[in-house]
Amino acid sequence: GNGVFKYYADGAWKISSSEESLPVINPTSREPFVAITACTRREVNKAFHSAKEAQKSWAKTPLFKRAEMLHKVAGVMKEKKNMEAIAECLIKEVAKPDKDAYTEVVRSADLLSYTAEEGIRILSQGKFLVSDSFPGNERNKVCISSKVPLGIILAIPPFNYPVNLTVSKIGPALIAGNAVVIKPPTQGAVSTLHMIHCFHMAGFPKGLISCVTIKASELGDYMTTHPLVNCISFTGGCETGISISQKAGMIPLQMELGGKDAMIVLEDADLDLAATNIIKGGFSYSGQRCTAVKIVLAMEGIADALVSKVNAQIAKLKIGPPERIDTDIVDVVSEASADFIETLVADAIDSGAKLCQGWKRRGNKIWPLLIDNVTTEMRIAWEEPFGPVIPVMRIKSVEEGIQHCNSSKYGLQGCVFTKDINKAILVSDAMESGTIQINAAPARGPDHFPFQGIRDSGIGSQGVTNSINFMTKIKTTVINLP
Ligand code: G3P
Repeated sequence: GNGVFKYYADGAWKISSSEESLPVINPTSREPFVAITACTRREVNKAFHSAKEAQKSWAKTPLFKRAEMLHKVAGVMKEKKNMEAIAECLIKEVAKPDKDAYTEVVRSADLLSYTAEEGIRILSQGKFLVSDSFPGNERNKVCISSKVPLGIILAIPPFNYPVNLTVSKIGPALIAGNAVVIKPPTQGAVSTLHMIHCFHMAGFPKGLISCVTIKASELGDYMTTHPLVNCISFTGGCETGISISQKAGMIPLQMELGGKDAMIVLEDADLDLAATNIIKGGFSYSGQRCTAVKIVLAMEGIADALVSKVNAQIAKLKIGPPERIDTDIVDVVSEASADFIETLVADAIDSGAKLCQGWKRRGNKIWPLLIDNVTTEMRIAWEEPFGPVIPVMRIKSVEEGIQHCNSSKYGLQGCVFTKDINKAILVSDAMESGTIQINAAPARGPDHFPFQGIRDSGIGSQGVTNSINFMTKIKTTVINLP
Protein backbone atom coordinates (compact mmCIF):
# COMPACT_ATOMS: atom_id res chain seq x y z
CA GLY A 1 0.00 0.00 0.00
CA ASN A 2 0.99 3.65 0.17
CA GLY A 3 1.17 3.90 3.94
CA VAL A 4 3.97 5.00 6.19
CA PHE A 5 5.96 2.14 7.65
CA LYS A 6 6.55 2.00 11.38
CA TYR A 7 9.94 1.56 12.99
CA TYR A 8 10.62 -1.19 15.51
CA ALA A 9 11.80 -0.58 19.07
CA ASP A 10 11.00 -1.92 22.54
CA GLY A 11 9.34 -4.92 20.97
CA ALA A 12 6.68 -2.76 19.28
CA TRP A 13 5.93 -1.08 15.96
CA LYS A 14 5.67 2.70 16.15
CA ILE A 15 5.18 5.82 14.07
CA SER A 16 7.67 8.53 14.98
CA SER A 17 6.40 11.53 16.90
CA SER A 18 8.24 13.65 14.30
CA GLU A 19 5.30 13.01 11.97
CA GLU A 20 7.85 13.23 9.18
CA SER A 21 8.39 10.49 6.65
CA LEU A 22 10.93 9.62 4.00
CA PRO A 23 9.78 8.38 0.60
CA VAL A 24 11.06 5.09 -0.77
CA ILE A 25 11.11 5.12 -4.57
CA ASN A 26 10.46 1.99 -6.60
CA PRO A 27 13.55 1.89 -8.90
CA THR A 28 11.59 0.37 -11.79
CA SER A 29 8.50 2.61 -11.87
CA ARG A 30 10.42 5.55 -10.34
CA GLU A 31 7.23 6.27 -8.40
CA PRO A 32 7.08 6.53 -4.60
CA PHE A 33 6.56 3.00 -3.34
CA VAL A 34 5.93 3.59 0.36
CA ALA A 35 7.32 5.88 3.02
CA ILE A 36 9.20 5.20 6.21
CA THR A 37 8.79 7.13 9.43
CA ALA A 38 11.69 9.49 10.31
CA CYS A 39 12.66 8.85 13.94
CA THR A 40 13.67 11.64 16.27
CA ARG A 41 16.88 11.88 18.27
CA ARG A 42 14.93 11.03 21.42
CA GLU A 43 13.48 7.88 19.88
CA VAL A 44 16.91 6.75 18.69
CA ASN A 45 18.37 7.43 22.13
CA LYS A 46 15.56 5.44 23.73
CA ALA A 47 16.27 2.48 21.45
CA PHE A 48 19.91 2.44 22.62
CA HIS A 49 18.87 2.58 26.28
CA SER A 50 16.34 -0.24 25.86
CA ALA A 51 19.03 -2.25 24.08
CA LYS A 52 21.37 -1.71 27.03
CA GLU A 53 18.76 -3.03 29.47
CA ALA A 54 17.80 -6.01 27.33
CA GLN A 55 21.41 -6.95 26.67
CA LYS A 56 22.18 -7.53 30.34
CA SER A 57 19.74 -10.43 30.68
CA TRP A 58 20.32 -11.69 27.12
CA ALA A 59 24.02 -12.12 27.91
CA LYS A 60 22.99 -14.33 30.86
CA THR A 61 20.54 -16.36 28.80
CA PRO A 62 22.06 -19.82 28.26
CA LEU A 63 23.88 -20.16 24.96
CA PHE A 64 21.73 -23.12 23.87
CA LYS A 65 18.61 -20.97 24.36
CA ARG A 66 20.05 -18.11 22.33
CA ALA A 67 20.85 -20.67 19.63
CA GLU A 68 17.32 -22.04 19.86
CA MET A 69 15.91 -18.55 19.25
CA LEU A 70 18.02 -18.14 16.11
CA HIS A 71 16.84 -21.52 14.82
CA LYS A 72 13.30 -20.42 15.57
CA VAL A 73 13.54 -17.16 13.62
CA ALA A 74 15.14 -19.03 10.71
CA GLY A 75 12.06 -21.27 10.67
CA VAL A 76 9.70 -18.28 10.77
CA MET A 77 11.60 -16.66 7.89
CA LYS A 78 11.20 -19.79 5.78
CA GLU A 79 7.43 -19.97 6.27
CA LYS A 80 5.89 -19.42 2.88
CA LYS A 81 3.91 -16.29 3.71
CA ASN A 82 6.84 -14.58 5.44
CA MET A 83 9.31 -15.52 2.74
CA GLU A 84 6.90 -14.13 0.15
CA ALA A 85 6.31 -10.91 2.06
CA ILE A 86 10.05 -10.23 2.32
CA ALA A 87 10.95 -11.31 -1.22
CA GLU A 88 8.08 -9.43 -2.87
CA CYS A 89 9.19 -6.35 -0.98
CA LEU A 90 12.79 -6.74 -2.19
CA ILE A 91 11.48 -6.94 -5.75
CA LYS A 92 9.54 -3.67 -5.46
CA GLU A 93 11.85 -1.75 -3.17
CA VAL A 94 15.33 -2.40 -4.58
CA ALA A 95 14.40 -4.02 -7.91
CA LYS A 96 15.93 -7.33 -6.92
CA PRO A 97 15.14 -9.92 -9.61
CA ASP A 98 12.47 -12.38 -8.45
CA LYS A 99 14.76 -15.43 -8.20
CA ASP A 100 17.48 -13.50 -6.36
CA ALA A 101 14.95 -12.03 -3.93
CA TYR A 102 13.79 -15.48 -2.83
CA THR A 103 17.38 -16.74 -2.70
CA GLU A 104 18.28 -13.83 -0.43
CA VAL A 105 15.61 -14.81 2.10
CA VAL A 106 16.52 -18.51 2.11
CA ARG A 107 20.23 -17.68 2.36
CA SER A 108 19.47 -15.41 5.32
CA ALA A 109 17.48 -18.05 7.19
CA ASP A 110 20.26 -20.59 6.54
CA LEU A 111 22.82 -18.10 7.76
CA LEU A 112 20.92 -17.75 11.05
CA SER A 113 20.75 -21.51 11.59
CA TYR A 114 24.42 -21.91 10.77
CA THR A 115 25.25 -19.05 13.13
CA ALA A 116 23.36 -20.78 15.94
CA GLU A 117 25.40 -23.96 15.39
CA GLU A 118 28.71 -22.18 15.00
CA GLY A 119 27.99 -20.10 18.10
CA ILE A 120 27.49 -23.28 20.12
CA ARG A 121 30.78 -24.64 18.77
CA ILE A 122 33.00 -21.63 19.32
CA LEU A 123 31.50 -19.72 22.24
CA SER A 124 31.51 -22.69 24.56
CA GLN A 125 35.28 -22.82 24.45
CA GLY A 126 37.82 -20.65 26.17
CA LYS A 127 41.43 -20.96 27.29
CA PHE A 128 43.13 -22.34 30.33
CA LEU A 129 46.75 -21.31 30.99
CA VAL A 130 49.23 -22.01 33.76
CA SER A 131 51.88 -19.45 34.70
CA ASP A 132 55.02 -21.58 34.83
CA SER A 133 55.58 -21.64 31.08
CA PHE A 134 56.72 -18.01 31.22
CA PRO A 135 60.24 -17.44 32.61
CA GLY A 136 60.42 -16.50 36.28
CA ASN A 137 57.02 -17.96 37.18
CA GLU A 138 56.06 -20.81 39.43
CA ARG A 139 52.98 -22.94 38.96
CA ASN A 140 50.88 -20.67 41.16
CA LYS A 141 48.69 -18.79 38.71
CA VAL A 142 46.01 -20.20 36.48
CA CYS A 143 44.28 -18.14 33.90
CA ILE A 144 40.82 -18.80 32.53
CA SER A 145 39.73 -16.80 29.54
CA SER A 146 36.48 -16.80 27.64
CA LYS A 147 34.60 -14.77 25.06
CA VAL A 148 32.06 -12.29 26.36
CA PRO A 149 29.73 -9.99 24.42
CA LEU A 150 30.69 -6.43 23.49
CA GLY A 151 27.31 -4.89 24.39
CA ILE A 152 25.39 -3.05 21.69
CA ILE A 153 26.18 -3.60 18.04
CA LEU A 154 25.08 -0.91 15.61
CA ALA A 155 24.34 -2.63 12.29
CA ILE A 156 24.23 -0.53 9.13
CA PRO A 157 23.45 -2.63 6.04
CA PRO A 158 23.35 -1.38 2.41
CA PHE A 159 20.51 -1.25 -0.14
CA ASN A 160 21.72 -4.17 -2.23
CA TYR A 161 21.20 -6.84 0.45
CA PRO A 162 18.91 -5.19 3.00
CA VAL A 163 17.92 -8.60 4.36
CA ASN A 164 21.02 -10.77 4.05
CA LEU A 165 23.56 -8.15 5.08
CA THR A 166 21.42 -7.28 8.11
CA VAL A 167 21.18 -10.90 9.17
CA SER A 168 24.92 -11.46 8.65
CA LYS A 169 25.54 -8.73 11.24
CA ILE A 170 22.78 -9.33 13.78
CA GLY A 171 22.91 -13.16 13.80
CA PRO A 172 26.53 -13.26 15.04
CA ALA A 173 25.84 -10.31 17.37
CA LEU A 174 22.86 -12.02 19.02
CA ILE A 175 24.37 -15.49 19.42
CA ALA A 176 27.33 -13.88 21.17
CA GLY A 177 25.01 -12.19 23.68
CA ASN A 178 24.88 -8.69 22.25
CA ALA A 179 21.91 -6.40 21.61
CA VAL A 180 21.48 -4.81 18.19
CA VAL A 181 20.28 -1.50 16.87
CA ILE A 182 19.80 -1.48 13.10
CA LYS A 183 19.92 1.56 10.90
CA PRO A 184 18.53 0.21 7.62
CA PRO A 185 19.25 1.81 4.25
CA THR A 186 16.40 4.14 3.26
CA GLN A 187 16.00 2.25 -0.02
CA GLY A 188 15.67 -1.25 1.43
CA ALA A 189 14.30 -0.25 4.85
CA VAL A 190 10.90 -1.83 4.29
CA SER A 191 12.50 -5.16 3.32
CA THR A 192 14.64 -4.99 6.47
CA LEU A 193 11.54 -4.21 8.55
CA HIS A 194 9.64 -7.16 7.05
CA MET A 195 12.58 -9.39 7.96
CA ILE A 196 12.71 -7.95 11.50
CA HIS A 197 9.05 -8.85 11.84
CA CYS A 198 10.20 -12.50 11.83
CA PHE A 199 12.39 -11.77 14.87
CA HIS A 200 9.40 -10.11 16.50
CA MET A 201 7.24 -13.16 15.86
CA ALA A 202 9.93 -15.52 17.11
CA GLY A 203 9.60 -13.73 20.45
CA PHE A 204 13.00 -12.16 21.13
CA PRO A 205 13.08 -10.12 24.36
CA LYS A 206 11.80 -6.55 24.22
CA GLY A 207 14.42 -3.96 23.35
CA LEU A 208 17.07 -6.48 22.33
CA ILE A 209 16.56 -5.75 18.64
CA SER A 210 15.47 -2.45 17.21
CA CYS A 211 15.32 -1.09 13.69
CA VAL A 212 15.19 2.68 13.59
CA THR A 213 14.52 4.49 10.34
CA ILE A 214 16.19 7.88 10.27
CA LYS A 215 17.24 10.62 7.93
CA ALA A 216 20.95 9.76 7.82
CA SER A 217 22.02 13.31 6.99
CA GLU A 218 20.45 14.47 10.26
CA LEU A 219 20.92 11.62 12.72
CA GLY A 220 23.61 9.42 11.15
CA ASP A 221 26.46 10.93 13.13
CA TYR A 222 24.35 10.93 16.29
CA MET A 223 23.89 7.17 15.93
CA THR A 224 27.46 6.25 15.01
CA THR A 225 28.94 8.35 17.83
CA HIS A 226 26.35 7.41 20.46
CA PRO A 227 28.11 6.55 23.74
CA LEU A 228 26.15 3.30 24.16
CA VAL A 229 27.41 1.86 20.86
CA ASN A 230 30.11 -0.75 21.46
CA CYS A 231 30.76 -1.86 17.88
CA ILE A 232 29.72 -0.79 14.40
CA SER A 233 29.25 -3.21 11.55
CA PHE A 234 28.81 -1.22 8.35
CA THR A 235 28.47 -2.21 4.70
CA GLY A 236 28.14 0.57 2.17
CA GLY A 237 29.90 3.37 0.37
CA CYS A 238 33.56 4.11 0.82
CA GLU A 239 33.12 7.76 1.75
CA THR A 240 30.50 7.03 4.41
CA GLY A 241 32.62 4.24 5.85
CA ILE A 242 35.71 6.39 6.09
CA SER A 243 33.72 9.22 7.63
CA ILE A 244 32.24 6.87 10.26
CA SER A 245 35.68 5.52 11.12
CA GLN A 246 37.03 9.04 11.59
CA LYS A 247 34.28 9.95 14.03
CA ALA A 248 33.66 6.70 15.90
CA GLY A 249 35.30 6.36 19.28
CA MET A 250 37.48 3.54 20.54
CA ILE A 251 35.19 0.73 19.45
CA PRO A 252 35.75 -2.15 17.05
CA LEU A 253 34.68 -1.42 13.49
CA GLN A 254 33.79 -3.99 10.86
CA MET A 255 33.42 -2.47 7.42
CA GLU A 256 32.95 -3.58 3.86
CA LEU A 257 33.10 -0.64 1.50
CA GLY A 258 33.04 -1.85 -2.04
CA GLY A 259 35.56 -3.13 -4.51
CA LYS A 260 36.97 -2.98 -7.98
CA ASP A 261 37.24 -6.74 -8.28
CA ALA A 262 39.54 -7.67 -11.14
CA MET A 263 39.38 -10.80 -13.25
CA ILE A 264 42.75 -11.74 -14.72
CA VAL A 265 42.40 -14.07 -17.70
CA LEU A 266 45.60 -15.88 -18.73
CA GLU A 267 46.38 -17.36 -22.15
CA ASP A 268 45.69 -20.95 -21.12
CA ALA A 269 42.32 -20.15 -19.50
CA ASP A 270 39.09 -21.95 -20.30
CA LEU A 271 37.57 -19.01 -22.16
CA ASP A 272 34.00 -20.33 -22.08
CA LEU A 273 34.24 -20.62 -18.32
CA ALA A 274 35.74 -17.14 -18.04
CA ALA A 275 33.01 -15.66 -20.27
CA THR A 276 30.23 -17.31 -18.28
CA ASN A 277 31.74 -15.96 -15.08
CA ILE A 278 31.99 -12.45 -16.51
CA ILE A 279 28.27 -12.62 -17.30
CA LYS A 280 27.22 -14.10 -13.98
CA GLY A 281 29.79 -12.27 -11.89
CA GLY A 282 29.48 -8.94 -13.64
CA PHE A 283 25.83 -8.60 -14.60
CA SER A 284 23.81 -10.36 -11.91
CA TYR A 285 21.65 -7.82 -10.08
CA SER A 286 22.86 -5.42 -12.77
CA GLY A 287 26.35 -5.36 -11.27
CA GLN A 288 25.14 -3.85 -7.98
CA ARG A 289 27.31 -6.07 -5.81
CA CYS A 290 30.55 -5.19 -4.05
CA THR A 291 31.88 -8.49 -5.32
CA ALA A 292 30.82 -8.03 -8.93
CA VAL A 293 33.47 -8.42 -11.63
CA LYS A 294 34.39 -4.77 -12.11
CA ILE A 295 37.26 -5.04 -14.57
CA VAL A 296 38.51 -7.79 -16.87
CA LEU A 297 42.28 -7.87 -17.42
CA ALA A 298 42.71 -10.12 -20.45
CA MET A 299 46.02 -11.25 -21.97
CA GLU A 300 46.31 -9.81 -25.48
CA GLY A 301 46.55 -13.22 -27.13
CA ILE A 302 43.07 -14.32 -25.99
CA ALA A 303 41.31 -10.97 -25.56
CA ASP A 304 39.52 -11.01 -28.96
CA ALA A 305 38.22 -14.52 -28.43
CA LEU A 306 37.10 -13.76 -24.87
CA VAL A 307 35.36 -10.51 -25.82
CA SER A 308 33.45 -12.19 -28.63
CA LYS A 309 32.31 -15.02 -26.31
CA VAL A 310 31.11 -12.47 -23.74
CA ASN A 311 29.34 -10.42 -26.42
CA ALA A 312 27.50 -13.50 -27.63
CA GLN A 313 26.19 -14.12 -24.11
CA ILE A 314 25.30 -10.45 -23.53
CA ALA A 315 23.06 -10.63 -26.59
CA LYS A 316 21.00 -13.27 -24.78
CA LEU A 317 20.50 -11.34 -21.53
CA LYS A 318 16.89 -10.33 -20.83
CA ILE A 319 16.32 -6.76 -19.78
CA GLY A 320 13.07 -6.24 -17.92
CA PRO A 321 11.12 -5.77 -14.72
CA PRO A 322 12.33 -7.60 -11.59
CA GLU A 323 8.92 -9.28 -11.24
CA ARG A 324 9.57 -11.45 -14.29
CA ILE A 325 11.24 -14.75 -13.53
CA ASP A 326 13.49 -14.66 -16.62
CA THR A 327 14.77 -11.10 -16.18
CA ASP A 328 18.55 -10.76 -16.00
CA ILE A 329 19.06 -7.01 -16.09
CA VAL A 330 16.96 -4.76 -13.86
CA ASP A 331 16.84 -1.01 -13.39
CA VAL A 332 19.63 0.30 -11.17
CA VAL A 333 18.60 1.49 -7.74
CA SER A 334 18.27 5.22 -8.36
CA GLU A 335 18.49 7.97 -10.92
CA ALA A 336 21.66 9.28 -9.22
CA SER A 337 23.24 5.86 -9.64
CA ALA A 338 22.27 5.68 -13.32
CA ASP A 339 23.65 9.20 -13.87
CA PHE A 340 26.96 8.22 -12.28
CA ILE A 341 27.27 5.13 -14.48
CA GLU A 342 26.53 7.31 -17.52
CA THR A 343 29.32 9.71 -16.50
CA LEU A 344 31.85 6.87 -16.31
CA VAL A 345 30.80 5.55 -19.72
CA ALA A 346 30.94 9.03 -21.29
CA ASP A 347 34.46 9.50 -19.92
CA ALA A 348 35.54 6.16 -21.41
CA ILE A 349 34.07 7.08 -24.81
CA ASP A 350 35.85 10.45 -24.77
CA SER A 351 39.14 8.70 -24.08
CA GLY A 352 38.75 6.30 -26.99
CA ALA A 353 37.32 3.13 -25.48
CA LYS A 354 35.34 0.80 -27.71
CA LEU A 355 31.72 0.10 -26.74
CA CYS A 356 30.79 -3.42 -27.77
CA GLN A 357 27.02 -2.87 -27.55
CA GLY A 358 26.35 0.83 -27.80
CA TRP A 359 25.09 2.95 -24.91
CA LYS A 360 21.42 2.60 -24.10
CA ARG A 361 19.60 3.98 -21.08
CA ARG A 362 15.94 4.57 -20.29
CA GLY A 363 15.20 6.02 -16.85
CA ASN A 364 17.11 3.85 -14.37
CA LYS A 365 17.42 1.04 -16.91
CA ILE A 366 20.87 0.61 -18.41
CA TRP A 367 21.43 -2.01 -21.10
CA PRO A 368 24.33 -4.40 -20.40
CA LEU A 369 27.56 -3.11 -21.82
CA LEU A 370 31.09 -4.40 -22.35
CA ILE A 371 33.66 -1.67 -22.86
CA ASP A 372 36.77 -2.84 -24.67
CA ASN A 373 40.21 -1.24 -25.05
CA VAL A 374 40.02 0.47 -21.67
CA THR A 375 43.24 2.15 -20.58
CA THR A 376 44.57 3.29 -17.21
CA GLU A 377 43.76 6.90 -18.16
CA MET A 378 40.03 6.23 -18.00
CA ARG A 379 37.98 6.61 -14.82
CA ILE A 380 36.23 3.29 -15.50
CA ALA A 381 39.57 1.51 -15.05
CA TRP A 382 39.57 2.60 -11.39
CA GLU A 383 36.07 3.53 -10.27
CA GLU A 384 33.22 1.27 -9.31
CA PRO A 385 30.20 1.77 -11.62
CA PHE A 386 27.81 -0.41 -9.53
CA GLY A 387 25.89 -1.03 -12.72
CA PRO A 388 25.74 -3.40 -15.71
CA VAL A 389 28.88 -2.04 -17.36
CA ILE A 390 32.13 -4.01 -17.53
CA PRO A 391 35.46 -2.61 -18.74
CA VAL A 392 38.03 -4.83 -20.44
CA MET A 393 41.70 -3.88 -20.37
CA ARG A 394 44.12 -5.81 -22.54
CA ILE A 395 47.38 -6.70 -20.79
CA LYS A 396 50.75 -7.70 -22.22
CA SER A 397 51.87 -9.65 -19.18
CA VAL A 398 50.40 -11.12 -16.03
CA GLU A 399 52.56 -8.67 -14.05
CA GLU A 400 50.77 -5.78 -15.74
CA GLY A 401 47.44 -7.21 -14.54
CA ILE A 402 48.69 -7.74 -11.00
CA GLN A 403 50.14 -4.24 -11.00
CA HIS A 404 46.77 -2.76 -12.02
CA CYS A 405 44.94 -4.71 -9.36
CA ASN A 406 47.39 -3.67 -6.65
CA SER A 407 47.33 0.01 -7.65
CA SER A 408 43.58 0.21 -6.98
CA LYS A 409 42.38 1.95 -3.85
CA TYR A 410 40.13 -1.08 -3.36
CA GLY A 411 41.14 -4.61 -2.44
CA LEU A 412 38.05 -6.70 -1.82
CA GLN A 413 38.25 -9.71 -4.09
CA GLY A 414 39.80 -10.68 -7.38
CA CYS A 415 39.98 -13.76 -9.55
CA VAL A 416 42.28 -15.49 -11.97
CA PHE A 417 41.42 -17.86 -14.82
CA THR A 418 44.06 -20.38 -15.86
CA LYS A 419 44.36 -24.16 -16.12
CA ASP A 420 47.79 -24.07 -14.47
CA ILE A 421 47.24 -24.35 -10.73
CA ASN A 422 50.81 -23.32 -9.92
CA LYS A 423 50.41 -20.12 -11.90
CA ALA A 424 47.05 -19.53 -10.25
CA ILE A 425 48.59 -19.74 -6.78
CA LEU A 426 51.43 -17.39 -7.75
CA VAL A 427 48.94 -14.84 -9.12
CA SER A 428 46.74 -15.21 -6.03
CA ASP A 429 49.75 -14.59 -3.78
CA ALA A 430 50.68 -11.50 -5.78
CA MET A 431 47.18 -9.94 -5.92
CA GLU A 432 46.69 -7.76 -2.85
CA SER A 433 43.00 -8.34 -2.17
CA GLY A 434 40.99 -9.88 0.65
CA THR A 435 40.06 -12.99 -1.35
CA ILE A 436 41.20 -14.38 -4.68
CA GLN A 437 39.02 -16.90 -6.48
CA ILE A 438 40.65 -19.37 -8.83
CA ASN A 439 38.53 -20.11 -11.91
CA ALA A 440 35.33 -18.50 -10.60
CA ALA A 441 33.98 -14.98 -10.27
CA PRO A 442 34.31 -13.20 -6.93
CA ALA A 443 31.56 -13.88 -4.38
CA ARG A 444 31.08 -13.51 -0.66
CA GLY A 445 29.43 -16.88 -0.06
CA PRO A 446 29.25 -19.52 1.18
CA ASP A 447 28.61 -17.30 4.15
CA HIS A 448 30.91 -19.09 6.60
CA PHE A 449 33.98 -18.32 4.48
CA PRO A 450 36.10 -15.38 5.67
CA PHE A 451 35.17 -12.19 3.83
CA GLN A 452 37.33 -9.08 4.05
CA GLY A 453 38.74 -6.20 2.12
CA ILE A 454 42.02 -4.39 2.37
CA ARG A 455 42.86 -0.72 1.70
CA ASP A 456 39.63 1.28 1.17
CA SER A 457 37.57 -1.91 0.79
CA GLY A 458 37.23 -2.12 4.53
CA ILE A 459 38.48 -3.34 7.86
CA GLY A 460 37.89 -6.47 9.87
CA SER A 461 36.88 -9.83 8.51
CA GLN A 462 33.36 -11.15 8.13
CA GLY A 463 31.85 -14.55 7.48
CA VAL A 464 29.88 -16.25 10.25
CA THR A 465 32.81 -17.45 12.38
CA ASN A 466 34.85 -14.28 12.10
CA SER A 467 31.84 -12.10 12.85
CA ILE A 468 30.96 -14.04 16.00
CA ASN A 469 34.54 -13.71 17.23
CA PHE A 470 34.62 -10.07 16.21
CA MET A 471 31.54 -9.29 18.27
CA THR A 472 33.05 -10.64 21.47
CA LYS A 473 35.93 -9.60 23.65
CA ILE A 474 38.23 -11.74 25.74
CA LYS A 475 37.57 -11.77 29.45
CA THR A 476 40.20 -13.25 31.73
CA THR A 477 40.12 -14.38 35.34
CA VAL A 478 43.41 -15.27 37.06
CA ILE A 479 43.37 -17.53 40.08
CA ASN A 480 46.35 -16.82 42.33
CA LEU A 481 47.23 -19.79 44.44
CA PRO A 482 48.95 -19.29 47.79
O1 G3P B 1 27.75 -6.16 -2.19
C1 G3P B 1 27.71 -6.88 -1.02
C2 G3P B 1 28.62 -8.06 -0.98
O2 G3P B 1 28.62 -8.56 0.32
C3 G3P B 1 28.37 -9.09 -2.05
O3 G3P B 1 27.85 -10.32 -1.68
O4 G3P B 1 26.92 -12.56 -2.07
O5 G3P B 1 26.83 -10.87 -3.89
O6 G3P B 1 29.00 -11.87 -3.26
P1 G3P B 1 27.64 -11.48 -2.79
